[in-house]
Amino acid sequence: MRIYNAPSIIAGLLVLIGLLTFPFWYNAGDVVAAPEPSLDTPVLQGLQDKQCIEPTPYMRSKHMELLRHWRDEVVRKGKAIYVASDGREYEMSLQGTCLDCHSNTDQFCGRCHDYAGVEPGCWTCHLQPEENVP
Ligand code: HEC
Ligand code: HEC
Ligand code: HEC
Repeated sequence: MRIYNAPSIIAGLLVLIGLLTFPFWYNAGDVVAAPEPSLDTPVLQGLQDKQCIEPTPYMRSKHMELLRHWRDEVVRKGKAIYVASDGREYEMSLQGTCLDCHSNTDQFCGRCHDYAGVEPGCWTCHLQPEENVP
């Protein structure tokens, strides 16, 4: 079989591929703004060196595992203190430690989770700090 007018068939295919993949490359631009978790809380404003329990890239990608680990240590093994990689010690508590610094859960945890489409559902049992309760 001969292909008549091959260039225009190829051009047509390219346009089709472009249309089909449009949603992907369209969103690759700055159309959906990345979440900006707010660090504007009284405790964080008062901190000398503004750092989390572990380095930020680790916290960003592994905080869920850290929280799960903390819960298991507290609930199953009855431990209370976490020693961070730099030697500092923290009470393993969602409310007492994480939310002491990150008391703006809606503007911090919430902004990322809304963006990522996750709803960890911790607040049915653990209390959110007052400032988030309408
Ligand atoms: C069904 C209720 C329930 C839900 C939902 C829940 N927890 Fe808990 N969690 C508990 C209870 C009860 C304890 C034990 C409290 C204690 O020993 O003082 C606990 C303890 C913990 C602890 C260790 C101690 C503390 O006070 O922080 C962590 C960390 C924790 N949970 C994290 C989470 C996270 C993160 C989520 C959301 C993904 C979550 N939990 C959802 C009931 C719940
Ligand atoms: C001593 C105060 C403090 C405590 C306690 C704390 N954080 Fe942080 N956290 C910070 C600060 C400050 C930053 C921002 C660091 C930076 O700008 O690099 C941060 C950053 C983060 C980030 C990354 C945010 C981003 O922009 O990517 C996550 C996620 C996070 N924290 C979660 C947690 C969780 C979960 C806990 C408890 C297990 C916790 N933090 C406990 C102060 C704290
Ligand atoms: C920098 C953005 C960011 C911040 C800030 C952040 N999270 Fe997350 N969190 C995520 C993303 C993204 C996921 C989903 C990760 C995945 O599914 O692999 C997630 C998942 C989780 C999960 C596991 C949910 C599940 O269904 O497995 C828990 C628990 C959690 N976050 C707790 C918190 C808490 C508590 C805070 C505030 C103290 C917080 N996160 C702040 C981005 C963030």
